[in-house]
Amino acid sequence: MSITIKDAEGIAGMREACRLASEVLDYIAPHIQPGMTTNEVDRLAAECMAQQGTISATIGYQPPGYPPYPKSLCTSINNVVCHGIPNDKPLKKGDIMNVDVTVITKDGWYGDNSRMYLIGDVSIAAKRLCSLTYDAMWIGIQKVKPGARLGDVGHAIQKYAEHHGLSVVREFCGHGIGQKFHEEPQVLHYGYPGTLDELLPGMTFTIEPMLNAGRREVKEFGNDGWTIVTKDRSLSAQWEHTVLVTETGYEVLTLSAGSPPPPAFVTATKT
Ligand code: MF3
Ligand code: CO
Ligand code: CO
Repeated sequence: MSITIKDAEGIAGMREACRLASEVLDYIAPHIQPGMTTNEVDRLAAECMAQQGTISATIGYQPPGYPPYPKSLCTSINNVVCHGIPNDKPLKKGDIMNVDVTVITKDGWYGDNSRMYLIGDVSIAAKRLCSLTYDAMWIGIQKVKPGARLGDVGHAIQKYAEHHGLSVVREFCGHGIGQKFHEEPQVLHYGYPGTLDELLPGMTFTIEPMLNAGRREVKEFGNDGWTIVTKDRSLSAQWEHTVLVTETGYEVLTLSAGSPPPPAFVTATKT
């Protein structure tokens, strides 16, 4: 297999799927507060997807070697790096939570995105981690244009993260996306400029850095087959957008009315 190039119809399909994925995150945002459980977050998202006429890409998702994923989204709190499974434990003041939503439209297109949510007042360190991780995602996005290489994206993210004393998780990466959830290429959040695949107009992929406040190493947690935590129990944050390579640069597809504004150093969501 190789990297798929989306034609005009594919791009229209991706724009719709990605906007809807972002709208699921908008929908849950006003409800998130201390005391609510991640199962309630999951239920709200499922309700939103039903209204949209989309379905969750995660429920029943089973890559080789994994048990079927049981929920409509992932909720990864504090030292959970990714793939946290919603449960009945209430959110606490001071928690930071990543919510990762992937929808499939009627036409079979996938939109994948995640955001961090701060539960009540959180520590300055936690806020800083969330905000620097957001910036790091956008630093990577800004490297996207025809002729650039994936190593340019990964390197920019890694350099920014490490400059600010954060570490980059290596075991999980962004990915091509289209009429499949995870397509080629792998989008590493570290690496060397000028290496790896050259970007071409019509490619769509995610950029979804996981940055840790402590060391980069991760491990599986418990026995659900999914939950990944930091080995040193340090906090971890992640943001995710799906982007399109345009003729002249990038278009961020997972945007909607409730998307947080890009950092001040970003001049456009579409170039
Ligand atoms: N949405 C995640 C990603 O960004 C994948 C979640 S797979 C799940 O690639 F099964 F854990 F939901
Ligand atoms: Co993804
Ligand atoms: Co995702």
